[in-house]
Amino acid sequence: MSHTAFATTTRGLNRDLPPMRLYEKAKKLGIWNPSEIDLTRDKQDWAGFSDEEKDLCLLLLSMFVAGEEAVTLDLLPLIQAIAEEGRIEEEMYLTTFLFEEAKHTDFFRRFMDEVVFLPSPRGRGEGGEGLTRYHGDNYRQLFYHALPEALNALRSDPSPASQIRASVTYNMIVEGVLAETGYQAFFTMLERNDLLPGLRKGISLLKQDESRHIAYGVYLLSRLMAEHPDEWDSLQMQMNTLLPFAIGVIGDAFARYEVVPFGLKEEDFVNYAMGQFSKRFERLEKARGASLDDVNRAAKESDEA
Ligand SMILES: [Fe+2]
Ligand SMILES: [Fe+2]
Repeated sequence: MSHTAFATTTRGLNRDLPPMRLYEKAKKLGIWNPSEIDLTRDKQDWAGFSDEEKDLCLLLLSMFVAGEEAVTLDLLPLIQAIAEEGRIEEEMYLTTFLFEEAKHTDFFRRFMDEVVFLPSPRGRGEGGEGLTRYHGDNYRQLFYHALPEALNALRSDPSPASQIRASVTYNMIVEGVLAETGYQAFFTMLERNDLLPGLRKGISLLKQDESRHIAYGVYLLSRLMAEHPDEWDSLQMQMNTLLPFAIGVIGDAFARYEVVPFGLKEEDFVNYAMGQFSKRFERLEKARGASLDDVNRAAKESDEA
């Protein structure tokens, strides 16, 4: 495919577009360095944890670290599809998005190498299956299958319906319901007990990045709903198919414990997840058949963009 014109030598960059505003924010806020977070206190805290407390942390870490790796691996087909449509502002934002997911993967793996597995004479601690044993059926459905399948489908079919399924899976379910809820609840639990300050610091920075990612997803889906209102069913069907798995991941995690360590409560996760989900779902409903100006205005007014 050849280029017929470049935005920068014709219309210029539209700096008022929501993805350009996210790009500006990312250049300021998304440049923290996972290698510089101090984990000294975390090592001391970890050594004092009971077996059950370690088990719960490992369960959460195993889901977060693999989840970050999955979203790093699987984002490229979406970036490619957006680039092929010549949407330079969106692609510029997406370059920060992928960089940030890589840093999240980096951060959790560093925490595991330096805090969790430090006492092990084998250095990295576990070989072979390792922490995979913590990944239950619902988690596997989402991260081993649904996410890569929805994103890789864009390689042969970058149609609006396919983009909608990809973004619902990636931004609304994996990031919006699972990651954001997990980080929020994990962070609150550690904050309340004043534990693992390095991990908390990383998670608070990572949550800021995630809120931009989700804001982009809401923008992308809103734009697609404005341009292709007839595709509402694709959006709703994908959400309805995947939401039970996402809620199931929370249920699987809590089912492991008779008494959940650190006073963590299942309702906190589920309620937060559903609250965030409904808030965004309402915005998408409003975008259906709206004008692009309305979509841009809604993004500006929301706290997310
Ligand atoms: Fe992430
Ligand atoms: Fe993300």
